[in-house]
Amino acid sequence: MIALAIMSANRIIGSNHHPAFKIDQDRERFRELTKDKVVIYGSHTLQTLPNKHILPHRTNIILSHNRNLDAPGAIIVSSVNELRYCLRDYEPNDVFLIGGATLFAELIDQCSAAILTIVNQELPKSPTSEFFPNLEERANWIIGRTSSIHFYDGYQFVYQQYTNLDFRKHHGSSPKKT
Ligand SMILES: NC(=O)c1ccc[n+]([C@@H]2O[C@H](COP(=O)([O-])OP(=O)(O)OC[C@H]3O[C@@H](n4cnc5c(N)ncnc54)[C@H](OP(=O)(O)O)[C@@H]3O)[C@@H](O)[C@H]2O)c1
Repeated sequence: MIALAIMSANRIIGSNHHPAFKIDQDRERFRELTKDKVVIYGSHTLQTLPNKHILPHRTNIILSHNRNLDAPGAIIVSSVNELRYCLRDYEPNDVFLIGGATLFAELIDQCSAAILTIVNQELPKSPTSEFFPNLEERANWIIGRTSSIHFYDGYQFVYQQYTNLDFRKHHGSSPKKT
């Protein structure tokens, strides 16, 4: 499983149930990386998707305690154990954890890699700010490849990859190359 997120320089991914950034070039990359693959997200993130519909052309797995969640076409799982069971049939590098803050916090160490879009801009912190985990503080995560700086729509951002050494040690799998 690979974490995929866009965040500010101070790791804010959203606020008050709204994503921090919507940058077309990044969205296009997201679509390319996840097309025909598996995406995992929490029930709050579903509410932020266009028309609150699941993402087309992907296997959508949504974590919620509500098994009757209104998400036609999605697989609803109600615990991390159930998620693990559900993922046994998929190639780990074809599975993307796409948010939100709760799921990243809960599952980041079960990811083999993180592919992050980091926007060169600090956003103001507020009580409703939602953060991506600080991988720099975790000894098991090492920084990998960084793209050149992209300039788009007034934003500057880089694509940054991190690798989870614990995951490689325990599972012997190497992260996807980007
Ligand atoms: N920048 C980015 O890349 C990015 C990507 C995605 C989302 N976001 C942002 O992140 C924010 C949403 O994050 P969030 O933390 O509020 O919500 P979230 O992670 O999307 O969803 C949290 C919900 O997931 C369910 N859940 C979590 N762990 C579970 C478990 N172990 N078992 C069963 N269900 C579980 C619960 O749903 P129930 O309450 O239904 O039980 C929980 O309330 C939004 O602002 C969104 O825009 C940003």
